[in-house]
Amino acid sequence: MDIVLTGDRPTGKLHLGHYVGSLKRRVEMQNTGKYDMHIMIADAQALTDNADDINKVRNNISEVALDYLSCGLDFDKSTIFIQSQIPELCELSFYYMNLVTVSRLQRNPTVKNEIHLRGFKQSVPVGFFTYPISQAADITAFKANLVPVGEDQLPMIEQTREIVRSFNSIYKEVLVEPTAVLPENSRCSRLPGLDGAAKMSKSLGNCIYLSDSSNDIKKKVQSMFTDPTHLRIEDPGHTENNPVFIYLDAFCRDEHFKAFLPAYANLAEMKAHYERGGLGDGTVKKFLNEILQAELKPIREKREELAKDLPYIFEKLHQGSQKAREVAAQTLDEVKTAMGINYFNGNSLIK
Ligand code: TRP
Repeated sequence: MDIVLTGDRPTGKLHLGHYVGSLKRRVEMQNTGKYDMHIMIADAQALTDNADDINKVRNNISEVALDYLSCGLDFDKSTIFIQSQIPELCELSFYYMNLVTVSRLQRNPTVKNEIHLRGFKQSVPVGFFTYPISQAADITAFKANLVPVGEDQLPMIEQTREIVRSFNSIYKEVLVEPTAVLPENSRCSRLPGLDGAAKMSKSLGNCIYLSDSSNDIKKKVQSMFTDPTHLRIEDPGHTENNPVFIYLDAFCRDEHFKAFLPAYANLAEMKAHYERGGLGDGTVKKFLNEILQAELKPIREKREELAKDLPYIFEKLHQGSQKAREVAAQTLDEVKTAMGINYFNGNSLIK
C-alpha cells in the first residue's frame, strides 16, 4: 500500500491556495481507501521562525485541525497528528544533519525565498535554515512514498530523496525515497494572491481563507487585481496572468456556467470574449464569487459545527499522535540498527 505523508505549519488558518494546492487532493486520496494516510500539523517547523511567538503556533493548531476536518479529512481514515509530539523526528533529524552540507542547504530555492521574504538577512535561525532536514525526517519516519504538496515544496522532497540515497548507501537500505504528488491541474500548484503576487500568503495579506464569511469572500473577490490594460469594457483584455482567470482555471467547471452564467458554455468561450473586448471585470468577478461561495459554503458550515467541540478534536489529535509515534519509533529503531548505534539491542558492542 502506498504511504502518504504531508502537513502544514500552524501559523494561521488555511486558505484557498492550500485547498487547491494540496488539501483537496489529500481528501480524494483518503476517500479512495487505497492509501495509508498521515497528515501532520507541523508545529515544530512553525516554531523555526516563530520561537518568540509560541501562542501563535499553539492557537493555530486547532484552526488547522478544523480546516482539515471541514474539507473532509477524517480521523477515522487518516492518522492526523502533531509534529512536536513525536520526539523521534528530532532524533532522526540529528543523524540526517550529518548527511547534508551547509552549501546544499544554502541552495534550496524555497528556503532562500522565505529568508528573503522574512527579511532575515544574516540573522537566520539555525532551526529555520535546517528545516528541510527535519522535513526529511517527517517524511522518512513514516516511510512515505507519496507526498501531496504544492509546487513550492518540491525542493524539500528533492532534499529528502538525497538524504535517503545517502543514508541507504552509507548504512543499509532502510529509508524510502518519496515522490511529490502535485495537483493534476497545474493552475492549482501555486494560486496567486488576490493582489496578483506570485503566491497566496498570510504574510502578504492576499488570501481568501476557508473560514472567511460569505461577505468577506465577496469583498475580496471584488478587490482582486485583473488586467491593468483592460480599462473600459470594450477594450480587449488579457486572461494570461490575470488572477481572476487563474482562479477560474483552478475552480470553474462547465456546470458552473449552467448554474450561474448560461451566456457561455465553458471557460474557453468566456475567455475568448474577454480577450476580444466587451466583457467587463465586474461580470467575471461576479461569476468567480458565485463559484467560490458554492465551494466554500459547506466547508464553512462544517467548520462552525466542529468548532463547538474542541475537546473532541484534541482527544483525536492525541490518539493520532500516539499512533504516529509508534510508527516513527519503529523507523528510528531500524535507522539506529543500520547505523550500528543500537548498542544495547542485541550484543553488537561485544563483537
Ligand atoms: N513545509 C510544509 C509547509 O510549509 C509543512 C511540512 C512540514 C510538510 N513537514 C512536512 C509538508 C512533510 C510535507 C511533508 O507547509
